[in-house]
Amino acid sequence: MTHATFDAPQPDRAFDAPESDRAFDAPTVIRTKRDGGALSDAAIDWVIDAYTHGRIADAQMSALLMAIFLRGMSGAEITRWTAAMIASGERFDFGDLRRDGTPLALVDKHSTGGVGDKITIPLVPVVMACGGSVPQAAGRGLGHTGGTLDKLESIAGFTAELSEDRIRQQLRDIGAAVFAAGELAPADRKIYALRDVTATTESLPLIASSVMSKKIAEGTRALVLDTKVGAGAFLKTEAESRELARTMVELGAAHGVATRAVLTDMNTPLGRAVGNAVEVAESLEVLAGGGPDDVVELTLTLAREMLDAAGLDAVDPAQTLRDGTAMDQFRRLVAAQGGDLAKPLPLGAHTETVSATRGGTMGDIDAMAVGLAVWRLGAGRSEPGQRVQFGAGLRIHRRPGEPVAAGAPLFTLYTDTPQRLGAALAELDGGWTVGDHPPPARPLIIDRITSRSRA
Ligand code: URA
Repeated sequence: MTHATFDAPQPDRAFDAPESDRAFDAPTVIRTKRDGGALSDAAIDWVIDAYTHGRIADAQMSALLMAIFLRGMSGAEITRWTAAMIASGERFDFGDLRRDGTPLALVDKHSTGGVGDKITIPLVPVVMACGGSVPQAAGRGLGHTGGTLDKLESIAGFTAELSEDRIRQQLRDIGAAVFAAGELAPADRKIYALRDVTATTESLPLIASSVMSKKIAEGTRALVLDTKVGAGAFLKTEAESRELARTMVELGAAHGVATRAVLTDMNTPLGRAVGNAVEVAESLEVLAGGGPDDVVELTLTLAREMLDAAGLDAVDPAQTLRDGTAMDQFRRLVAAQGGDLAKPLPLGAHTETVSATRGGTMGDIDAMAVGLAVWRLGAGRSEPGQRVQFGAGLRIHRRPGEPVAAGAPLFTLYTDTPQRLGAALAELDGGWTVGDHPPPARPLIIDRITSRSRA
């Protein structure tokens, strides 16, 4: 893929359906991309608008997404596709909001999708406790990866369906709102749901445009992108992930959002819990000053990047986990969105435990195998709009490098549907080892990419 210039284009929002539908038709657009051609700006504007408004069938959009998946897009096409997705809905602006007479330091983070990636849950309250304000349009599960909204909705009463007024009020009063994108980039909402069930998630242009259309429209001033690398990431090689990070950073800059990316390892799941409510439970441990080291390290790394991007450096984010101020902020956020942390988190009633057949040292745990196992348990979707099981998930009892005794439990699986256990166990099979030596150490934080660091 070549990078063209990233000047933000301004597609015409007032599409005239009959005129534009006379100029284009879906089969021709699909064929152009299928045969390796480039889509014109006008064709991209038309296709996004027509699909958003139901004038292109899901079957046709699925074919186009598969053609994009197979053929890719140029930098110019990605830029236009992203701009058209932003133009499909509203764009929030919170620049007028003040707290104690001071403009809000608006900053957000987004992950390109991982396994056990619950980082938003402890991160947002840490940043709130350090004085930042986080307007976060979050997503649902995609493919083998979990979604922040599915996790947070496992808290009794929690709602992510917030009006713009309510988001503004929360930002002013408590400094954060985590919400479903709603009328922000509605084209992404439809395309995201279609990608989830048509095996078209793992595409650089589709990931970059999906992430950045929501993030540019949500009204943040600064953005940190946690770009995953490895077996459990959508893009497997470091080179592809770097390219994705650079593409998103340039898209953000072109639209006036100060964007930087951190490349992080996603070969092994993050932490010891993967699923919906089990990840909330682990996040609460982190907010209480404990939790797995890798989850704490990534939370604090991203918090420091966010605070730096927002020009806030007075408070040490680690202190907010030690002194309970981040936990206080999480309680305020959950309460503001109707959640009740006093109610127990759900846990699937049917369980299966995988135990070690020999003693030794836990080897690598394949994030993709775990992600697929948890998806099979019911934590994700196989049809658009399907309800996820909040109690579905998996606990990892031994992390890579930890000692294992013969017969010791390694994983516990949870689901509400016992018939799902067999398929989940099959996904997990071969995704872990116990050996005589620890696996090679891999850094969690691989690199940072900023607009200026681009060659
Ligand atoms: N997150 C998104 O919002 N979109 C993707 O395509 C992947 C991760």
